[in-house]
Amino acid sequence: MRCNSNSFNGATDASRVYQLIVTCLSTILMFLIAPNPMNAQKTNAPIRFDKQTQVFRIDAADVSYVFGINEKKQVQTLYWGKRLNDADPFPAPKSDPGLSGFDTSVNTTRQEFVAWGSGLYIEPDLKVSFPDGNRDLVLQYDSHTIEGRRLKIVLKDISRDVYVDLEYQIDVVTGVLTRSANVENRTSAPLTVEQISSGTWNLPRGDDYRLRYLTGRWAGEWVLHHQLVQPGKTILESRRGSTGDQNNPWFAIDHEGDGDQDHGDVWFGALGWSGSWQISIEQDQIQQIRVAGGPNSFDFGYRLSPGEQLKSPDFYAGYSHDGIGGASRLLHRFEISSILPHGPKPKLRPVLYNSWEATEFKVDEAGQESLAEKAASIGVERFVVDDGWFGQRSSDRAGLGDWYVNPVKFPHGLKPLIDKVHSLGMDFGLWVEPEMVNPDSDLYRKHPDWALNFIGRPRTEGRNQLMLNLARPDVRAYVFQALDKLLNENDIAFLKWDYNRNWSEPGWPAVAPEDQKKVYIEYVRNLYSILAELRAKHPQVEIESCSGGGSRVDLGIMRYTDQVWPSDNTDAFDRLLMQDGFSYAYAPGVMMAWVTDSPTWVNQRNLSLEYRFLSSMQGSLGIGANLNNWKPEDFTTAKSMVAQYKHIREIVQRGSLYRLISPQNGSEQSVTESVSEDQRSAVTFAFLHSSQMLYPFPRIYLRGLKTDSMYRIAALNGKLSPGTPDIASGAFWMQHGVDVELRGDFQAASFRLDVADR
Ligand code: GLA
Repeated sequence: MRCNSNSFNGATDASRVYQLIVTCLSTILMFLIAPNPMNAQKTNAPIRFDKQTQVFRIDAADVSYVFGINEKKQVQTLYWGKRLNDADPFPAPKSDPGLSGFDTSVNTTRQEFVAWGSGLYIEPDLKVSFPDGNRDLVLQYDSHTIEGRRLKIVLKDISRDVYVDLEYQIDVVTGVLTRSANVENRTSAPLTVEQISSGTWNLPRGDDYRLRYLTGRWAGEWVLHHQLVQPGKTILESRRGSTGDQNNPWFAIDHEGDGDQDHGDVWFGALGWSGSWQISIEQDQIQQIRVAGGPNSFDFGYRLSPGEQLKSPDFYAGYSHDGIGGASRLLHRFEISSILPHGPKPKLRPVLYNSWEATEFKVDEAGQESLAEKAASIGVERFVVDDGWFGQRSSDRAGLGDWYVNPVKFPHGLKPLIDKVHSLGMDFGLWVEPEMVNPDSDLYRKHPDWALNFIGRPRTEGRNQLMLNLARPDVRAYVFQALDKLLNENDIAFLKWDYNRNWSEPGWPAVAPEDQKKVYIEYVRNLYSILAELRAKHPQVEIESCSGGGSRVDLGIMRYTDQVWPSDNTDAFDRLLMQDGFSYAYAPGVMMAWVTDSPTWVNQRNLSLEYRFLSSMQGSLGIGANLNNWKPEDFTTAKSMVAQYKHIREIVQRGSLYRLISPQNGSEQSVTESVSEDQRSAVTFAFLHSSQMLYPFPRIYLRGLKTDSMYRIAALNGKLSPGTPDIASGAFWMQHGVDVELRGDFQAASFRLDVADR
């Protein structure tokens, strides 16, 4: 700040003195009211609105998200990316004039939420039809409210009383935004919502973007893909009634050739919805990138009577300047603190045992008790009885729907087994598949109309079972009561909630034809409400989301479940690739990973017990091997590995994951590192597929440590190279690196680092 004496010019008359004083005062005033862009402080309010320019700014963590109301009252995106200076200018937004008569303004203006109307060709966020045949909807800003971390913007159609609430919530720690849209019909006649998304995420214009996404199938989930974002549209979706594994509702976009694990701009997002869904990634005719997501619009139609509302799922998205590794670490942190039950400190996952792969449906009291004794001897904390304990269930052909304890297999009910499990110091878990029914069951014989069906049409079976229509209030009541009774009558700490097929013939004959397609929404709402009600009534119970493997993993179901089952494929080598893909979207702490038998049923591959343990210890550890076949030395190894896991599990389950060497693209190696939240500890897992031509294992360069802190290294299984120092700085471990002695086929090593307190 300077009071420029040149303006005085050597003159001494009173008016000049007066002028100088005014100049100085106004400079001081300007300085006080106008933030200096060079040294503006970061504001505390994460959401701000500038009345003059009509611009909203959301600033949190390392992210700024800016949009405003333009002269057409459209909500127009202005910026999404690395955090800007709080004083950076954003003038009042102006709509784009359009490219030509073919691509009019509504198509080229980047809107936060745009309805199908007035000649829109890009993916709409909302499409409705009215009973008078009108299908045009043009939304304009009406009002807004800001409450701390939440912003609600109300939009209204230009002539009809259709309102949309756009909701934004910012997570100040990660900068992850949650968006949803709520449509309300305030007209006097019903209307039908034919498509709804939670909103559009507009990226900066460009033609060099790369999309990452996940695909899969049963026993082959979590395959990571990337492709250039081309002009046109890519749709990731499920039409299966549930999340599915063909695509997972997650995306990440960065600049092709510009990013790696820890550098570069990445925009990422995940949809919190466990029904049919879609995410469209569109590069339009002027190279604008738009991402929209919500329930799948295929076969969709939701009738809203006057006064009724429809809320879209939550769509979460964030930005990282630290590459795809930084993006997944932000998403993991957000899931742990804001999605999972008991966040921000969800309970650590206990080590569990499950005999599914060992015994399949042949479960009974004596057999399970004997396995429980063996499991307890190696330090297992939770014993889970899988499929086969109920109804007339001796194969997958019968019994689903009949949730009473099989009197032949468990003549005294489950209590003696549960007591035994407790006496061994473990808690007890049980497998259920509540949304299904076998035609060979008492339930189906009594209520054939409870299955999803179209009257007079065949009912397609998957794994010999049909889907119950959970949208029906009577089915919802039955499922809730069956589970509530089970939990009231037995001391159960954990449910493995399975779901082993997808939808077919999604009819709901009990309601009017124009309401039948509501099944896509009401089913999922009832699923969530059953889970919520059970959790409220039985707060000690934890739940796993399983769907024949990883077919129902998303941020919607994770709000009600503590862990997920990524795949029925438990081959520890295959799992390295799957776990890597999984980790792009979901936190390692929710990822159950069992140590099972070798050779594996999947590939007939032989893997050492140590290798199998180290592969599983990258997530939440479980044991699924047939302990009846183990030799004494297997029990010794397992006991030591389980004990070691308990020491590192907080680092793995709650820490920050660094993918040091990727197993993708046929790599011979895979290395991951987890760093504790306080950066005082880290644990590294290294795997070798096959040595070749005398090449040593690549040096491992750690990440995420404090440069100046001294860390002590300790091998979990004795394979550090000779000459590795005991103690060195974080800088040393990150810059000089660590060598491990891995040679041969299917070898594994692990070591940890801890701050060496003097
Ligand atoms: C699914 C699950 C398995 C097991 C079986 C039981 O396939 O993914 O882990 O529980 O069902 O039928």
